[in-house]
Amino acid sequence: MSDLEASLLAHLNSGGDVPDSRSYASSLGVTHKELEDVIKSLAAFRIVESKDITKETWVLTDEAKGYLASGSPEAQLLAAIPPEGASKDVLKEKLGSILDIGMKTAAKNKWIGFEKGNKDLVLRKVDTIKDELQEQLKRLESGEVLSDKVIDDLKRRKLIMKEKTSCYALKKGPQFVAKRKKLATDVTQEHLRSGDWKDLEFKDYNFGAQGQPISVGYVQPLLEVREEIQNIFLQMGFTEMPTNNYVESSFWNFDALYQPQQHPARDSHDTFFLQAPATTKQLIEAYLEKVKEVHQCGGYGSKGYGYDWKRDEAEKNLLRTHTTAVSARMLYKLAQEKPFAPKRYYSIDRVFRNEAVDRTHLAEFHQIEGLICDYGLTLGDLIGVLEDFFSRLGMSKLRFKPAYNPYTEPSMEIFSYHEGLKKWVEVGNSGMFRPEMLLPMGLPEGVNVIAWGLSLERPTMILYGIDNIRDLFGPKVDFNLIKSNPLCRLGLQ
Ligand code: PHE
Repeated sequence: MSDLEASLLAHLNSGGDVPDSRSYASSLGVTHKELEDVIKSLAAFRIVESKDITKETWVLTDEAKGYLASGSPEAQLLAAIPPEGASKDVLKEKLGSILDIGMKTAAKNKWIGFEKGNKDLVLRKVDTIKDELQEQLKRLESGEVLSDKVIDDLKRRKLIMKEKTSCYALKKGPQFVAKRKKLATDVTQEHLRSGDWKDLEFKDYNFGAQGQPISVGYVQPLLEVREEIQNIFLQMGFTEMPTNNYVESSFWNFDALYQPQQHPARDSHDTFFLQAPATTKQLIEAYLEKVKEVHQCGGYGSKGYGYDWKRDEAEKNLLRTHTTAVSARMLYKLAQEKPFAPKRYYSIDRVFRNEAVDRTHLAEFHQIEGLICDYGLTLGDLIGVLEDFFSRLGMSKLRFKPAYNPYTEPSMEIFSYHEGLKKWVEVGNSGMFRPEMLLPMGLPEGVNVIAWGLSLERPTMILYGIDNIRDLFGPKVDFNLIKSNPLCRLGLQ
């Protein structure tokens, strides 16, 4: 029990009351805040009863505080005049702005006069004075009640102003005790050894108290949503593709996907090309020949693009612009395994595009990609799988719009109705890989591949209500936002 608490309880116990906690605090020589803490703790246990009161009191203005310390302007003036008198200019230099105020009152009190014929020389007419103003200010400061006339006078001179203060009136509460027993919160080794645990009174548990924040690692929203989506793929029987190569050749990123070499996406305005090593030497010759052939002249029922395909262009290294480059590698690998076995593959990893960075675009983002490879797949299968996949993400209202990709035919953009935004938003792109892509790889006739891709950032932003992608990814991300993310959310929409 603090000394302050002991004094207050003793005071109340001996019949005293506390009508104003502020003056009680100053009588004890403590700040009101210190007393307030004790009052709150005692009131919580109803040991004392406290009533809030607000009072208006007169307090000194800054000007008055100066006079309280150094004397009233008239007293300061008197002190500044030597026996032989002084000119106004000299006094002005000594006293500054208070000279005029001091002169007025000093003249009214007949403390000063002027030399005959020289209105500029100020003479003192009295030897000693009583500084009444300073006295009044002192009395007010010590809490004395001054007469209405004095108050009016000080108010007129703008030396005091009204201020609202709050304090408490205190009396004994229903649970009053002269001395508070300290309740134990823990049984310590000491208690057990001495045996005094038998007599201890324990503090009740506060089940409503908030726990300490736990200082552990927090999961970035992108990683959290990535895991959710990964789980959906795994539940649907998909296997993850190895996506650990950010650097890819143009061949796998574009040529293998039947994307012509003049296609605008292959421009350095859209794609980051590598300076060193600028090219790859690791292309598979036999397959490369087939890809060249299908671009130039077609085959497998296709006319091809009819242009002069260049190996140099295919050898250029770049930062992959989509994870479909990985899908191409995996499908090629699958085509080499005999006999053919159907597969479901997925990946979620980073891709790079040479884009102007703004609220919704970064030069790098994460792409989610899924594909199924089997005999006799149709567009109906693609729509069915997409409906299954997206409904697991909480998006069950889907619409499809015909689109174009060099490597898929037919192709469809995927839209989902966003209940929060009350509109259809584009959530992905999809299609059936072209025979011009699959047959040169060596996949058997009749095998189709249905595939789709979307960004990881977009659903995450919708889910977390983030409207600037830079708040989600990159150096401007606020760690507190990550720490305070809810553990559980309802659906993706
Ligand atoms: N690669 C496409 C993109 O970058 C996504 C996609 C994947 C489209 C597979 C169709 C099939 O947007």
